[in-house]
Formats: sequence, structure tokens, C-alpha cells
Amino acid sequence: MAETPYLRESGYAERYRDRRFREGSGSGTDRRERRALRALLAQAKWSAGPWLDAPSGAGRMSDELPGPVVQVDRDPAMVGACGPGRPRACASVHALPFADGTFSGALCHRLLQHIATPVERIAILRELARVCRGPIVVSFFDACSLQHLRRQLRRRLGKNRSGRSAVARGAFLREVQAAGLQPIAVQALRRFLTEQTLVLCMGRHDGQ
Ligand SMILES: C[S@@+](CC[C@H](N)C(=O)[O-])C[C@H]1O[C@@H](n2cnc3c(N)ncnc32)[C@H](O)[C@@H]1O
Repeated sequence: MAETPYLRESGYAERYRDRRFREGSGSGTDRRERRALRALLAQAKWSAGPWLDAPSGAGRMSDELPGPVVQVDRDPAMVGACGPGRPRACASVHALPFADGTFSGALCHRLLQHIATPVERIAILRELARVCRGPIVVSFFDACSLQHLRRQLRRRLGKNRSGRSAVARGAFLREVQAAGLQPIAVQALRRFLTEQTLVLCMGRHDGQ
């Protein structure tokens, strides 16, 4: 399957690491995202072992995961920006270089809004489910939000060329199920206001 391109200009990885979630509204978003992830992890059970952060970006959320973390991103600049200290790999979430059930849990944070089609999103969720024997937390952009309506309006007025895709909560949960995962809990950052929403899913190998 042809992957949705995700191209960034030079210096983007360093700016993403050092500024995107530390300045302006980004710091509030960062705080709310961490809170949402913690709330979901508090409802999950997992066995001992490594966790997967994919895509890790510059590793912003890795510290929130319990246990040793393996960071994976398609962009070598992002992998480089993660810094030393953790095992890392430059790879696509479409073809993760790990055996079935390698990880105790996984986080897929801030990727799926860049993926335009349900088919491609489901393929990514399936691949995460393959390598993970425990809970998976995945984020998506909820179309039922003021932020999304504003984005749509700006797009219509030609003021926004953002390629982000939002999907209704129910439709996304059906995509999760189509990937063989069971949605357990949903945590919006600010429901109906902002798009970003996290879902805790039960992996295929999980006895939760
Ligand atoms: C918005 S960043 C999110 C990073 C991190 N999870 C966070 O929340 O800060 C999205 C990341 O997805 C990566 N990415 C895009 N497509 C990918 C793919 N097919 N496989 C792995 N990484 C991908 C990009 O390189 C980028 O680092």
C-alpha cells in the first residue's frame, strides 16, 4: 500500500522537540495530553516488558510510558532528535521490524490525523496489534469538535491548507474494531472543543 507522504522541512525535528509543545498554546496541549494518557494508563493492565512509542517523534511522550521504551519513527531526523538512552529504530508503522507480541504495550500518538483514509489507518492499527501483547493507546482527531469545524471553515475560505484528517468518534472506534482491537476507554482533551482524543484499546494477545 502506498503510504501517505509526511514531508517536513529541514530543522523541523529540532523545532518540534524544543518549541512546538513548550511555547504558546502548545504547553497547555502538552499538559492535557499527558493527563489524558495517564488517565487511560490508570485503567490498563499489562505484563512486564518493553513498550513501543511509535511514532515517537522526538520522544516527547516516551517518559509517560511504564517500563523500558523502544522509540520508532519514520523520519531519521526525529529519531536523531530523541537523543541517546533508549533503543530506537527508523521504521514505518506500516511494517514494524519486530516479532509478533514483542511489546507489553504501545502508544501511537499524533499520527492518525495525518493519515487520510480508513484503510490506511486500519492497516496501521493492525500492525500495532501484531507487535503488541498488551494495551495500545492511540490518538485521533475527533470531527465532532469546534476546532475541526473551524479548520473546515478556514479550508473552505482557502485560509488553511492543513492536511489533517478528523473522523467521528463512533467511526474511529469501528476502525479500531476492524483492526481486531477492542476499545476500552476514550479520553478527549476537551470534548467538543478540541480535536485531539485518545483511545485505550485492548491488544489481540491481552487477557485484560
Ligand atoms: C506529530 S509527530 C508526533 C510525535 C509524538 N508521538 C508526539 O506526540 O510528540 C508525528 C510523527 O509521525 C511520524 N510518522 C509519519 N508517518 C509515519 C510512519 N508511517 N511510520 C512512522 N512514523 C511516521 C513523523 O515522522 C512524525 O515524527
